[in-house]
Amino acid sequence: MHSRNIYRNNPPDFESLAKAYPVLQQHFKASQDNTVGVYNFQNPQAIIDLTQSLLNHDFQLDVQLPIENLCPRLANRLNYILWIEDLLNETTGSGIARQGLDVGCGASCIYPLLACRHNPDWTFLATDINHQSLLVARENVSANALEDQIRIVEKSPKDSFFDFSETLDFTMCNPPFYASPEEITELESFKHDKPRSKLLAHPNELITEGGEIQFIRKMFEDSYTYVFCNSLEKRKNHQTWFTTMIGKQSTLHTLIPLLKSKYQLDNYVITTLVQGQHTRRWVLGWSFGYHRASDSISRISQTNSPLKSLNPPVTEILVNLSSTEGFQAKLESTLSNLVRYGLSWEKSGEHLNVTVHRVRVPNDIWSRSFRRAWAKRQDDSSKPESKRQKLNDGLGYYLFTITLVSVKDPQLRIRWNYGVDFKIYESFVGMIKRACT
Ligand SMILES: C[S@@+](CC[C@H](N)C(=O)[O-])C[C@H]1O[C@@H](n2cnc3c(N)ncnc32)[C@H](O)[C@@H]1O
Repeated sequence: MHSRNIYRNNPPDFESLAKAYPVLQQHFKASQDNTVGVYNFQNPQAIIDLTQSLLNHDFQLDVQLPIENLCPRLANRLNYILWIEDLLNETTGSGIARQGLDVGCGASCIYPLLACRHNPDWTFLATDINHQSLLVARENVSANALEDQIRIVEKSPKDSFFDFSETLDFTMCNPPFYASPEEITELESFKHDKPRSKLLAHPNELITEGGEIQFIRKMFEDSYTYVFCNSLEKRKNHQTWFTTMIGKQSTLHTLIPLLKSKYQLDNYVITTLVQGQHTRRWVLGWSFGYHRASDSISRISQTNSPLKSLNPPVTEILVNLSSTEGFQAKLESTLSNLVRYGLSWEKSGEHLNVTVHRVRVPNDIWSRSFRRAWAKRQDDSSKPESKRQKLNDGLGYYLFTITLVSVKDPQLRIRWNYGVDFKIYESFVGMIKRACT
């Protein structure tokens, strides 16, 4: 569970909750020793009553959850939101108002409600194709006076997921995972353990034509269109993180190769959401922009995970130093020598023996081929800039952070924060390594 999840190592205290929310009292099975009984997770109404009580107790939210709809598991929904907060904070900056989109908000409208409670300066678009669910979602938004932050939009299945005029900072989705009722039955039969609680849901919440693979393939296509078939102004601002939950591990094995081959995209992120002891879900995110997330957010770290081979490129490389003596002078003179080719650098966060150098470069300016091209450009400096160069203005650069992480066994951590090409990052690390070790 995410380290900021309020339910991490902190399960609900049923006894005091039932005192504050008497509706829960009917759902305890009697115990023989006079202590509070066992909560009846097999009863769907008991799960709804518990979820509503927790939403009210922990988030001051008043939420209708119709019995025929999916009842959201709060710890899991929170994990996804907290991971998105981390992803946005470390890539596009913290403390910023955000515009999000929840594809398929359902009757509960759970993601926009929770996310806006947690982040009062965020705004959300929330879509669904189910008219009845949207009626309830609207009531949930207005019952909590969040109409200024959450706008509900009805869609049809053929519509683009992302045809909005707003600039979206991020999108999220808990899609219908399955292609048919038979697929659900088949997958249930493979499970060894009986789930602790019953899953009740409307068929459209669980089933979609072609299952989650087809749904997310359309999402890839629509995200590409949103970014590249829009005005130049929007294209320049194409930092949107598109994300979706994934219900089946095998889906990642199909979709990640597709992202790489069809869209030539290596800027994607994967995380695992652990939901109790029984269920595992994943979140896949992708961006056509060049902000790079840290390894802890973007990569599966468990050594024995079959998903490791699908991980995106690393963005943090450690370089061992034999000693720190003279290291800073060597590093700074190397960086200063490259300033004339367009590098800029600044020292920040120098405290407690930790030195952080932030370096911005336009390209692999340390390579021979760049130097040759640079010399030629000096000769051609009277020629007008090409159209392509103009289009790339503000995008074609790299940002790295170099941190001395330990003084005893000194190591440099070189983090790739921004930029299009992993090879240039690797080459930068090689250049710094040669200069400083
Ligand atoms: C698994 S439910 C998720 C509900 C809620 N977000 C949650 O996490 O509990 C999937 C939702 O996606 C909606 N949906 C299906 N196709 C859609 C589409 N093309 N556009 C928007 N929503 C869609 C369904 O109606 C359903 O409400």
